Amino acid sequence: MKKKIIIANWKMKLSGPAAQELIREFIDIYQPTEKAEVVICPDYLNLPLISQAIKDTEIALGAQNCFWEKTGAFTGEISPKFLKEAGARYVIVGHSERRTYLGETNEMVNNKVKAALAEGLAPIVCVGETFEERQEGNKDFVIINQVNKAVADVKLNEGDELIIAYEPVWVIGSGQAVAPEEAEHTHRVIRQVLMDNFEIDVIDEKIRLIYGGSIEPANLKGFLTMPNIDGALVGGASLDPIAFNDLLKEVS
Ligand code: PGA
Repeated sequence: MKKKIIIANWKMKLSGPAAQELIREFIDIYQPTEKAEVVICPDYLNLPLISQAIKDTEIALGAQNCFWEKTGAFTGEISPKFLKEAGARYVIVGHSERRTYLGETNEMVNNKVKAALAEGLAPIVCVGETFEERQEGNKDFVIINQVNKAVADVKLNEGDELIIAYEPVWVIGSGQAVAPEEAEHTHRVIRQVLMDNFEIDVIDEKIRLIYGGSIEPANLKGFLTMPNIDGALVGGASLDPIAFNDLLKEVS
């Protein structure tokens, strides 16, 4: 069985002092376990602060986005190389909020995945359908297309890691997750797409599929008992140190 991974997506919710306070409170109560890997994804400015705060812990650092070039005249962008230097091991790519508000396309996501891997970062690729797409009966089609395009021409070499996070867009921040069985169905669809793109042992060794969307301590376990769900991407509940720690207790 793959090690479970719980990823905190702090979004643009915390100023520097608030982020420092949250990480301090969390580290105080957090008990590392063999069963769960923990990743914190603060905004860009808070990466060095959080990197410093977690340096003697088992917690890993992730960014919420990256650009696809290493360096150059790209005003306002951040290179995966700089993220690596700031201590990140993971990077979220293609979150639905970026697809919606910043016009991030599947092609951009694919470029970011390749650039992140080239720097030794593990991309956390977010995919998911909108409510309308679901109503129109296009959910699986949308997911298949997003995953296929995200991993097009991607090679996973020794030491590489890739995470696909299924996040139904309409569920994010709603307080109402989908049923674990439904997420499991979608994860099977994703696994099928991955089988068209990678050897089975590559999928088994290097790719984890996680669910995101209104995860809380009370519902996490239902997802983690599904055979194709390897963890969770958590927004709201990751901003409360006690709730986030309770989530991790559910894993162990
Ligand atoms: P949520 O956010 O847990 O608040 O629904 C998840 C996400 O956007 O990654």
